[in-house]
Amino acid sequence: MTDIVWHQHVIDQAARGDQKGQSPVLLWFTGLSGSGKSTLAGALERALFESGFHTYLLDGDNVRHGLCKDLGFSLEDRDENLRRVGEVAKLMVDAGLVVLSAFISPTLAERERVRALFPEGKFIEIHVSTPLSVCEARDPKGLYAKARSGEIANFTGISSPYEQPLAAELTIDTSKGDLTTQVNTLLDYLSAIQVID
Ligand code: PPS
Repeated sequence: MTDIVWHQHVIDQAARGDQKGQSPVLLWFTGLSGSGKSTLAGALERALFESGFHTYLLDGDNVRHGLCKDLGFSLEDRDENLRRVGEVAKLMVDAGLVVLSAFISPTLAERERVRALFPEGKFIEIHVSTPLSVCEARDPKGLYAKARSGEIANFTGISSPYEQPLAAELTIDTSKGDLTTQVNTLLDYLSAIQVID
């Protein structure tokens, strides 16, 4: 990259956020398939959006239809998936948005690499810690059954690892309590760290 020079924008992230009346941030949901990441992130986005925040939700299933459609579920492909998503999320935070993301993001190293793209306090890791037994019992897409029968290889929690976060900012087990309470827990946290008033 020796011949490529960084071009400093005239308008910076803080100015873009100020114009929208918000503090741009990335809310990174991580957890097993079926843990409730997308449901929780979607409900939180709705609450923020309805309160006037400028938001965007990046979701594993959707990103894999376009930006990452060439990638599978080997550890190498997951690394590349999350590298791309981290960079996209960074651009969106730079644009002044409150960005939510819902990816399994199974390894500590992948999550730390994304965290390292952001200044302190701009990457909030939310561990959706719903136990594997509950995720498997839910099996909303029938993928656990296929993983157990060997029809799907490298399935997270069954035949591919999930490394528990060691220092997530927040941990939520969706098998306990209801969605409204869980969203309120998230909103209370965002208020405590002054992302929202
Ligand atoms: S990762 O590990 O972060 O790159 O995965 P992600 O991009 O979030 O994609 C997870 C969704 O892909 C579906 N799926 C699988 N998940 C895990 N392992 C295997 N082998 C697999 N194959 C397909 C699954 O629907 C995941 O969606 P969620 O919403 O997590 O259930």
